[in-house]
Amino acid sequence: MIVAIDGPAASGKGTLAKRIAAHYGLPHLDTGLLYRGVGRIMLDRGFPLDNVEIAATIADHLDIADLNAERLRTRETGEAASVVAAHGPVRKALLDLQRRFAGQPGGAVLDGRDIGTVIAPDAGAKLFVTASSEERARRRFHELVARGELTDSDADYRAVLADIEKRDARDSARADAPLMVAADATILDTTQLGIEEAFAAALAIVEAKRA
Ligand code: CDP
Repeated sequence: MIVAIDGPAASGKGTLAKRIAAHYGLPHLDTGLLYRGVGRIMLDRGFPLDNVEIAATIADHLDIADLNAERLRTRETGEAASVVAAHGPVRKALLDLQRRFAGQPGGAVLDGRDIGTVIAPDAGAKLFVTASSEERARRRFHELVARGELTDSDADYRAVLADIEKRDARDSARADAPLMVAADATILDTTQLGIEEAFAAALAIVEAKRA
């Protein structure tokens, strides 16, 4: 069983994917980390993010084992990820790795932007997890304050909201594998849901597909 979970920034898809994978004992891949990994290396080495050729070469040599989720969750890295993710050759370089992960015997859970549309169009269950931009910004803001990256101020909240809106626009407008709802995906709006409620709702969607 392949479970594809897509959605915009800070929609909670990563948390849900982790929980669903644990529930079924399936391997989980947070595909955002791949783009974050490429973006991070570009920043660390001082390459301009719009250099498609270098970004694609880095993507080609990316090793999942080297991706440090904690280090890649910064605001700057998310922004860089969204820039390099718009480069077609970068997406192409990361395609096989994701398809191999999805095709493991027994199945897998993947979360990202294009899992149900491009990476695993035949996935048995597809969820599109979303929430209002204000709620998503609030969640990301609390995460970044807890990490010590931002101060607990209204100005910093507004900066996160602006980041999220800019990133959604970039992810939705790009030509290659834009963020969109797969025709056969079920939309889960978590604006009014806590983590447990969202998990129960997500599980019910997957179970209905399994039945
Ligand atoms: O955690 P958050 O939702 O903020 O971001 P993420 O899932 O780690 O993804 C970071 C960026 O990578 C996104 O803004 C997308 O531009 C890109 N991405 C993508 O293009 N395709 C994917 N399957 C996953 C992420």
